[in-house]
Amino acid sequence: MKIKVNDTMDVNELNDLLKTIGWGVSSSSKLEESLKLSWGWITARDDLNRLIGFVQILSDGIKHAYILRLIVHKDFQGNGIGTKIMEKLMEVLEENNLSPILLTKPSEESFYSKFGLSRSNKGFISLFKW
Ligand SMILES: CC(C)(COP(=O)(O)OP(=O)(O)OC[C@H]1O[C@@H](n2cnc3c(N)ncnc32)[C@H](O)[C@@H]1OP(=O)(O)O)[C@@H](O)C(=O)NCCC(=O)NCCS
Repeated sequence: MKIKVNDTMDVNELNDLLKTIGWGVSSSSKLEESLKLSWGWITARDDLNRLIGFVQILSDGIKHAYILRLIVHKDFQGNGIGTKIMEKLMEVLEENNLSPILLTKPSEESFYSKFGLSRSNKGFISLFKW
């Protein structure tokens, strides 16, 4: 398995991976635009070079880095791939002095806490308009 930062990627390949859990985007060109707007991304590929994991990073390049779309293909989950992606992500952010921010479900808090991410203790709240 290979973990890479800013790997060249066929956007349809990414969309197919996202679609496996209903996160696909109707137009791959929109996904391509989204990737262009990213600060970066990390991919995981198996020995056959298939895309099996991904995470996207949006950042101002100064302080904050928003973590989006962490995904491991369902056939490969539970094998430590999500952990490897997160470890690489934390390493890259630390090298660039960026602080990660992400929204997640309470059930996933224990996964992210393994990488030092925790609820804000500074009173920050999440505001949305759905
Ligand atoms: C969340 C996800 C990326 C984890 O990837 P993975 O490769 O299966 O995770 P790992 O095999 O590295 O698991 C590491 C540990 O986290 C735990 N874990 C895995 N997925 C978890 C989840 N969704 N919630 C809580 N804990 C989880 C594992 O049990 C394992 O625990 P252990 O170290 O005590 O054995 C993957 O399950 C996924 O793609 N889920 C669907 C998309 C999603 O929900 N992404 C996150 C949204 S913000």
